Formats: sequence, C-alpha cells, structure tokens
Amino acid sequence: MKKIKIPKNRIRKLKTYSLGKKPFELISLNSQNKKLIDLCSNDYFGLSRDKHLIKAAYEISLLEGIGSGSSRFITGSRPIHKLLETKLAKWLDQEKVLLFPSGFQANIAAIEALANRNSIVIADKLIHNSLLVGVKAAQAKLVRFSHNNLKDLEDKIINSNPTKNSILVVVESLYSMEGSIAPLREITEICKKNSVQLLVDEAHAIGILGPEGRGLSFNCRSDITIITGTFGKAFGSGGAFIASNSEIGEYLIQTSGAFRYTTALAPSLAAGALEGLNKILENKEWGNDLLSSAKVWKDEIIKNFSFPVQGDSHILSIIVGQEEKAIYLQKYLEKNGFLAIAIRPPTVPVGQSRIRITIRRNLDFNMLENFIAILKDFK
Ligand SMILES: Cc1ncc(COP(=O)(O)O)c(C=O)c1O
Repeated sequence: MKKIKIPKNRIRKLKTYSLGKKPFELISLNSQNKKLIDLCSNDYFGLSRDKHLIKAAYEISLLEGIGSGSSRFITGSRPIHKLLETKLAKWLDQEKVLLFPSGFQANIAAIEALANRNSIVIADKLIHNSLLVGVKAAQAKLVRFSHNNLKDLEDKIINSNPTKNSILVVVESLYSMEGSIAPLREITEICKKNSVQLLVDEAHAIGILGPEGRGLSFNCRSDITIITGTFGKAFGSGGAFIASNSEIGEYLIQTSGAFRYTTALAPSLAAGALEGLNKILENKEWGNDLLSSAKVWKDEIIKNFSFPVQGDSHILSIIVGQEEKAIYLQKYLEKNGFLAIAIRPPTVPVGQSRIRITIRRNLDFNMLENFIAILKDFK
C-alpha cells in the first residue's frame, strides 16, 4: 500500500462524500442501510471480503458442510482444524495451538486453565469483558492495576504474596478502546521476577503488530504462559485460538469445557482463517503500512480538530467527553459518508465518550482528505 502524504493545499471542503469507485472491502451499512466508509470495523485488512478467503470458505463448505455438526470429540474435527493449528503453532513458534469458536470463549478457557478459587488474578483496568467473565468462571479473586502502570502492577503482585498464592497476571497487548500498547517486555520481566503466570490477549494486534504480524508478545513469548488471539479481526474470518506449551495445551484438551463441549469452529471459518494467515504471510508489509497510515491520520486529525486523539497504532480514539457529543459526532459523520460508532459508558469511563476509528488497509488519501474536511466543519 502506498504511504499517505497529505499536501497541505489539498485539504478542501466537501459537503458530501462521493463513494467514487466504491471500495468493496471498506463499505458497511448503517442502521438505515446507507452505504458508508466503515471506519470502525476490526476487519483491519479488509480480508473478510477478499475473494481468496471467500473461495476457500465456499470450497470447503461444499465438501464439509457449513457447520461442523458437533464438538471436536464427536465428529466435529476436520483436517482443516489440524492444518490451521499446526501452521499457527509454527508461525508463532509455540508448542501447541488450539482453536475455539470465538475469542470470548478462548479467553474464558485460558483463565480457567490458569486460575481457580485459590488464585488471584491481577488484571489491567482496561481488559476485555471476556477475560473478566473468565475470572468469574474460575472463581478467582480479581485485583485490578491501573492501565499500563508497571509500578502498580508490581505493588499489586507483592501485596498479593506470590509465594503463598497462585497469581495470574492478565493483559492485552493492544487495548481495543484506547489503542494503547502494553509494555510487554517490562510486564514479562516483572512476572518472571515474581514467578507469576502471564496471559496476553493479542486480539487486536495479531496479524498486524510485532515481527511480521506475529503479535507484540512474539519477542517475549517464552516468558508468557498463554497467548490468545482471534480470527475475527485482522484475519478476516471468525473463531480464535490459544497458544501455549504442550502441557497447558494437553490440559485444555482434557479439561476445558469451552473446548470440549462446544460445536467445533465452522470449517468455512477455519478455511477463511487459514487463507487469511496465508495473505498475511504473503504481504508482510501490510502491518507496517497500516501503522504509517494511522500515524498520518492521527497527526492530521490532531492538527485540524480540537479534541484529543489517543492511540499508538491502527486504533485511534477521538475523545469527545460527553455522551451526547459523541453521538452527535457519530451522526454528523454518518451524514457525511463515514461510519464511526460513538463508544460510551459503561464501555469507557464517564466523561470519556469517544469516536473510535480503525485505520484499515485501502483507506486512501482522498478518504483522509474528506474526513478532515468534514471534521473541520463540525460545530
Ligand atoms: C480484546 C478482545 N479480546 C477478545 C475478544 C473476543 O473475540 P471474539 O470476537 O472472537 O469473540 C474481543 C472482541 O472484540 C476483544 O476486543
């Protein structure tokens, strides 16, 4: 993808945005079925509409059916599952990868594998709801540390007495609502020093960030107990995985209800995820392109708009403050051709309502130009 450079004199006001060539992979419908440039989907590379993924899903569906029909232990297991697990394990340099029908389920299974009623789970304040549900399911005690605050994390570990308690630290590598990146190297050091386990959810980073998209945890993988990731975002498909050593993998196979007692990932989604992985492998520059593009978008929004913008990667949050303002901005953008949903409490703290935008592959210079022109007109 070409890097976006925006010449200053090309910013101009446009009353409405014409979809021009209609970039198929970027268009979504709003609740009134209006076609809009989708600036909020997690389909970061637009792969969900890639013809190769669609073909792979179609062809396997003809052979294997749309659904898998039962759990992996009855008749749900298909060669495509093993193929995807093996390829992912090799790519991530992990001993074992197991597939799950969703990231929500994988996170619950991961926490249940590492914590129980005698454990303390020390989690970043902003972790995803699925991880909190996992803590509840495991009946562990939950302790929160301030977002990305290493001192608070270490204090909480020491105060929880790791020599006496089984402790699990839970973080995301890239936080979905803030776009902030976890200091994983430092977090792994703290966990190692205090001999506590670490779970990293790579949902929004896998395929994009880290060496050749292998995730931000890749360079410190040997100090991480479990990594979870989803196929519903950069991979353009659906479903998820847990990556770990063989011992934990075997434990999950033997004991995890979320793995054993659920209909296996649909063959079409597994084939789509495998093709998505192939695309990511073939296009190693995509991740960095997305980051460079996001940087341009962020700088331009900051330059031209008075609200603060957060985000260290392809997820950017325009912090608007009041809920009503965020909804008003969402509607204003919709009227002008862009879909960007207002994120409000309880998903984010009161007073921090925002428009979360995701910088996706194939968003081009004209779209940025129009977005900026529209924002400049916002009253
Ligand atoms: C950080 C994080 N983890 C897990 C999930 C759940 O993944 P899935 O949509 O595959 O259930 C999400 C979903 O958006 C997420 O943002």
